[in-house]
Amino acid sequence: MSEALLPGQLARAWSADPAIAGPLALAAALYARGTVVLWARAGTAHGLRRRDVLAFAAGWTVLALALLSPLHELSETLFSAHMVQHELLMAVAAPLIVLGRPLVAFLWSMPASWRRRAARAAGSGRPAAAWRALARPSVAWLAYALATWGWHAPRLYDAALASAPIHALQHATFLATALFFWWALLHGARHRYGAAVLYLFATAVHTTALGAILALSARPLYPAYASTAAWGLSPLEDQQLAGLIMWVPACLAYLVAALALMLAWMREGDRRLPRAVAAPASLAALLLVVLLAGCDREPAERSRRELVDGNAERGREIMPAYGCNACHSIPGVRGTDARVGPPLAGIGSRSFIAGVLPNQPDNMIRWIRDPQAVDSLTARPNLGVSARDARDIAGYLYTLR
Ligand code: HEC
Repeated sequence: MSEALLPGQLARAWSADPAIAGPLALAAALYARGTVVLWARAGTAHGLRRRDVLAFAAGWTVLALALLSPLHELSETLFSAHMVQHELLMAVAAPLIVLGRPLVAFLWSMPASWRRRAARAAGSGRPAAAWRALARPSVAWLAYALATWGWHAPRLYDAALASAPIHALQHATFLATALFFWWALLHGARHRYGAAVLYLFATAVHTTALGAILALSARPLYPAYASTAAWGLSPLEDQQLAGLIMWVPACLAYLVAALALMLAWMREGDRRLPRAVAAPASLAALLLVVLLAGCDREPAERSRRELVDGNAERGREIMPAYGCNACHSIPGVRGTDARVGPPLAGIGSRSFIAGVLPNQPDNMIRWIRDPQAVDSLTARPNLGVSARDARDIAGYLYTLR
């Protein structure tokens, strides 16, 4: 462990460790390039929305500050500062980065031929199947909980403080499990609002418990944090402060996320709900959902269907006229066992369209009408589908889960 940091040294304790600054700069460059290429192709704010880009920029900034600002140095001296750093990584930067859909941007930052290969590899084969099996909110929740509790075992924590590689491993585990956790909750193929809210609550509960253990312990648990006096704290007070930080503000972050998800759920579930009713109603629903999460039925996919607002039955009937079934097998559309394009069974619950665009209603309609505008290399022809027909077809495709 390095020398204890003194208050007078704080302002100059910025770090430019290339092992951290390098990957951060690379991630920013890839994201920026992907966004520029995608927007040039699909139209500004299509594929990635402006707010996705803002979320990524905000998450990236918080991450960079947590890892390179004086907070990083201070966290070697004060347990409470280390706690702030970890909570910034896990409860602030990670969800913002995930909201920014970095995988879409990274895919589009690649040369076109790589992108298609990567999209294809990600959408098929054994690794993809294994990933789908693994990427459940329950698994992600468990990984996040294990990382949080495991690294706070005093032995492991002290080992991390004593060795730079173990410390780097600790941060990498925190960040990776947090990204996985938030991704599974916010975007995963099995994304369900009810389950996401429930797992956020469960996380708030167990991190509150850990925070309370730290705050209420009668003795310091981490001997490495012994030189806290220059900061006006005894080691025990420092630990109490750290416990409180995990207990209250971090817990609040999970609850705010749960509340935001509730609101999004209600807004998608019932577009006619007036705003004045939505806020109090969502609080009531917050309580309800804890009771009902067990029987939650795929609101995300149901609402995609409602959002396109197409006549699904008509959509099913007109597809043969466009020859969709000459290339695709489509459940419910007769005489099709075609294999030119991918089977469309289950398209309603897939996360991506043709492996590259997030499966959102506006993207689906865009794809049906003009696939080359989205991806100039695609084998899928432009069939001159009218706007109304595209909406009805999308309406039907979203019934296929
Ligand atoms: C000439 C053959 C052909 C026709 C006709 C055709 N498609 Fe496709 N479609 C493809 C191919 C090939 C792909 C895969 C494209 C890719 O990955 O770039 C595809 C991809 C798709 C996808 C994305 C599937 C996924 O798994 O993400 C959808 C949705 C789709 N087509 C819908 C339609 C609809 C609706 C019609 C009729 C209006 C239609 N297609 C007509 C060849 C065709």
